[in-house]
Amino acid sequence: MHLPDLCVAGNRQRVTVDHIALDQEYRPLFAGKKYFLRTYGCQMNVHDSEEIKYYLEALGFTATDTLEEADIVVLNTCAIRENAKDKVYGYLGRCKHLKYSKKNLIICLCGCLVQEPHEIEEFKTKHQYIDIIVGTHNLKELPELICQKAPEQAIEVYSNSDKVYENVKYARDSKISAWINIAYGCDKFCTYCIVPFTRGRERSRKMENILQEVQELKDSGYQEVTLLGQNVNAYGNDLALGYNFATLLEEVAKIGIPRIRFVTSHPWNFTDEMIDVIAKYDNIMPYVHLPIQSGSDNILKKMNRRYTIEEYKTLFNKIKSKVKNVAITTDIIVGFPNETDEDFNKTLDIVKYCEFDNAFTFIYSPRVGTAAARMPDKVSFETKQARLKKLNELVNSYSLKSNQKLLGKTVKVLVTGPSEKGSNKVCGYTDTMKLVNIVGSQDLIGQIVDVEITAAKSFSLDGKVSL
Ligand code: 5AD
Ligand code: SF4
Repeated sequence: MHLPDLCVAGNRQRVTVDHIALDQEYRPLFAGKKYFLRTYGCQMNVHDSEEIKYYLEALGFTATDTLEEADIVVLNTCAIRENAKDKVYGYLGRCKHLKYSKKNLIICLCGCLVQEPHEIEEFKTKHQYIDIIVGTHNLKELPELICQKAPEQAIEVYSNSDKVYENVKYARDSKISAWINIAYGCDKFCTYCIVPFTRGRERSRKMENILQEVQELKDSGYQEVTLLGQNVNAYGNDLALGYNFATLLEEVAKIGIPRIRFVTSHPWNFTDEMIDVIAKYDNIMPYVHLPIQSGSDNILKKMNRRYTIEEYKTLFNKIKSKVKNVAITTDIIVGFPNETDEDFNKTLDIVKYCEFDNAFTFIYSPRVGTAAARMPDKVSFETKQARLKKLNELVNSYSLKSNQKLLGKTVKVLVTGPSEKGSNKVCGYTDTMKLVNIVGSQDLIGQIVDVEITAAKSFSLDGKVSL
């Protein structure tokens, strides 16, 4: 895939805004105006939206959950599969319609979808009503673009960046659990995946900056941090400063924040040193998300995953034996180009072997520009759907089995908010990331409490506070 280094539409004059001074400079401009922000996709996008929120609120906008009330709509998009893209286009239709009656409405698109050159062409030619398009490497330019709102469509999208920005400000969604970027981008180039194209090359943040952020979050009362990277265990390799993910994890643990987790790990460079650190510290959650993608060596090779099933099993068993009560979850793709029944049966076999605590399953979706999109594929969509159904039944039976193991036990739960299951309930997560609905008062929110598990389903647990 080729993108020019910088594609900017229009000849606008660039101004630099000191983000720290944003509120003084621009706040009056948008005071009383409302923003509507919608986020698609992964945790990385969710965290980027916290940066977007900071900018919007610093400019003076306040949030609304009602599209029709908005003066600015920001869609933070995802490109991982076709259905994520379809959802964005569907929503854009509603925004376009709203603009007929609300001429001054600003429509802004950010995130992974706008990093794709053919999508940019589409937006330029068929979606002129979009005012601002900001790429994943250009997010910090969003406030300038809003302030300068040019008459023509403004596009700021770098194809790649070797930059790592520090001192980024966030309006965090939660005061209990925080996301922390430790690395950006991905160099793995799995053949099905668009991420290396939309998020760029792997770049790590310096350890001292991450540790400072964790310390500040602990000082402000946060109970949990999640270290974020497309491939966290490659952390530090690009810096060559003598530290790696195991070093970072250990230093984060020593700060003493009650709960630490990390996503996502690649099985390829998950080291023994990392496993030892996870096992050593009580505040590192015994939870590892370890995407396997397929149970067939033939498919793994075509996916450029760089491990065999035997190697995955060895790693899986090592983590299980060294980390007490660990939960391992995974991602699986069915219907990769020319996946045979035999390949698919091997995926079922590995699920039976690993009995994953949970698995996120997907039908393969060709992404323009990736190597797999050019591979011949004779498998019908109906076959892919049937495989997904069969896989989900199996995966769900193991989720249920793993949840049932907790029945009658008392586990620690970080209570994160009200429960959807009733006003007398709150909900939270075990240290193995299992969702628990708890009978109890809203005062529990923000605390880690002992909960007795009273019922187990495939996707959640019920519990009551243990006295
Ligand atoms: N089609 C289907 N699933 C995909 N994933 C990534 N790219 C694709 C694609 N083109 C899945 C992988 C990855 C998860 C985040 O999304 O399983 O681990
Ligand atoms: Fe995509 Fe593979 Fe990188 Fe994960 S490791 S983001 S699946 S290219």
